[in-house]
Amino acid sequence: RNIVILISGRGSNMEAIVRAARAEQWPANIAAVVSNRADAAGLQFAAAHGIETAVVPNRDYPTRDAFDAALQATIERFSPDLVVLAGFLRILTAPLVAHYAGRMLNIHPSLLPSFPGLATHRQALVAGVKLHGATVHFVTADLDHGPIVAQSAVPVLADDSEDSLAARVLTQEHLIYPAAVRSFVEGRLTLADGRVRLDAGRS
Ligand code: GRF
Repeated sequence: RNIVILISGRGSNMEAIVRAARAEQWPANIAAVVSNRADAAGLQFAAAHGIETAVVPNRDYPTRDAFDAALQATIERFSPDLVVLAGFLRILTAPLVAHYAGRMLNIHPSLLPSFPGLATHRQALVAGVKLHGATVHFVTADLDHGPIVAQSAVPVLADDSEDSLAARVLTQEHLIYPAAVRSFVEGRLTLADGRVRLDAGRS
């Protein structure tokens, strides 16, 4: 199974997926890491680990449609069975999302449907919730509202800052995202008629 991972920055979720894929010998090939920013730190990790990288700078394209067409062309070069959004900070157009229906995953740093969008940790602190977390979901045209695959909750502590809360959530992201991607490449995770089917693995 070919996986293409899309990043915009640090790439720690991408890194967690690459490390797990190798350590656990998934039946998968991380075919490429693609970024919309040439300065995404994660590109260096990918290259250092022998993974092809590509940059499609969104600023080079006058419209979202033009950018997404170029992005899709780049992704297609790697014949992906699965496209993994890992801190990819561009909103994708409906045609691109439709093209990868049922084979594009995202991780969002909140317990969806709470706190879609940006600054999720600040949103959680402002709302005063006692539980926060992360969600892996299939990507649909409805931003941050695709069918939920996995979630993990963490406590919100009285003295939390955005940073301390983000760090606690990120630790969980690095567990649930590789597990979800592994389920997909092992054929245990599918989306059919808008419903998620997830069969348990052995380890
Ligand atoms: C993560 O918190 C992810 O949930 C969100 O953006 C952040 C990306 O971090 N979408 P990284 O690039 O994976 O380190």
